[in-house]
Amino acid sequence: HLEESIRPYIDLIDTLRSAGIHKDLALPTIVVIGDQSSGKSSVLEALSGVALPRGSGIVTRCPLELRLKKVPDVYWKAVLSYRDKRTEFVDSSLVQNRVETAQNELAGKGVGICDELITLEVMSPDVCDLTMIDLPGIARVPVKEQPDDIGNQIKQLIMKFIEKQETINMVVVPCNIDIATTEALKMAQEVDPDGKRTVAILTKPDLIDTGTEKSILDIVHNKVITLRKGYIMVKCRGQQQINDEIPLEEAAHMERDFFQNHDYFRGLLTENKATIKCLAIKLTQNLVDHIKKSLPQLDEEIKKQLWDVRNKLKEFEGGPPQDPKGAKQFLIKEDLDSTKDTWNSHLIRPSRNSL
Ligand code: GDP
Ligand code: NA
Ligand code: MG
Repeated sequence: HLEESIRPYIDLIDTLRSAGIHKDLALPTIVVIGDQSSGKSSVLEALSGVALPRGSGIVTRCPLELRLKKVPDVYWKAVLSYRDKRTEFVDSSLVQNRVETAQNELAGKGVGICDELITLEVMSPDVCDLTMIDLPGIARVPVKEQPDDIGNQIKQLIMKFIEKQETINMVVVPCNIDIATTEALKMAQEVDPDGKRTVAILTKPDLIDTGTEKSILDIVHNKVITLRKGYIMVKCRGQQQINDEIPLEEAAHMERDFFQNHDYFRGLLTENKATIKCLAIKLTQNLVDHIKKSLPQLDEEIKKQLWDVRNKLKEFEGGPPQDPKGAKQFLIKEDLDSTKDTWNSHLIRPSRNSL
């Protein structure tokens, strides 16, 4: 069964990340990128059932790791952690406020960005098993109080995540703009020219101009910009539906009705190229395939680093030489060696104290 077979893989990666391994080794993950207001938060909300901070302008100012865990016997529970802080809560309406507080602390109040990770773990019977990282949206023009180079700062932050071979890049693009010229899609192509690890999500299909349906279908059918992982079209809540507080569950029914009644996009349902539900299934499968593929390499990498560290430790087994000159040389050498490699240095430091 799909659900039972995927959890251990995702848990393994989450555990490695909690242990700080991602600072030394790249871990498989899904990263969400797109222009500001392309619909990133809406897609994440629909996938997670959690209302995230939203609004116009720059809302996501730090990378936000969203760990969704399907847990049958929990009503709803979340754990937010950043730096050395950790808070648990059971009221989902607190998410927006808690994330904003964390962002203000890490990136300062206002419009600045920062590359420190905030992790939100959500446990509920209603979520899918997925871990995704939301990144700041690509800004075209800086808003008031933002530095002129904010666009570049954001792009650099995004690049740091998407260039890693271990990352699946989920690019969110609205249907009602010129898709081929989207900055986010260009960036994804730059780091992944064959589109092997890029998935594109086309949003706002209800807002397209009449007459553009066929050219959009060509894109979804991979005839324009070829991505091996392909395209999925989704319809999320528009601003009016958010103002009217339409629940996510009802929005999912409306999404289905929209596609079923659409003259051009109806076929996408049977092709498994439309709806949030289909996206959730595809993403989970993609992530697990990706983790499975990365495991042998990850295992090798960890063993190699462990071996290096063990060898290093051996050198210190007898303790420093007794004569002062030898002892001094020993310490200087060790200091130089350890600065070469952060992994070695932070593993060695505690054991050195115990010598
Ligand atoms: P983000 O800045 O990329 O996170 O974008 P948001 O998720 O905040 O969405 C920006 C605006 O687009 C919001 O007002 C959403 O309600 C609206 N929106 C997102 N998806 C859709 C959609 O499929 N259809 C319509 N009509 N509006 C959408
Ligand atoms: Na936004
Ligand atoms: Mg957003």
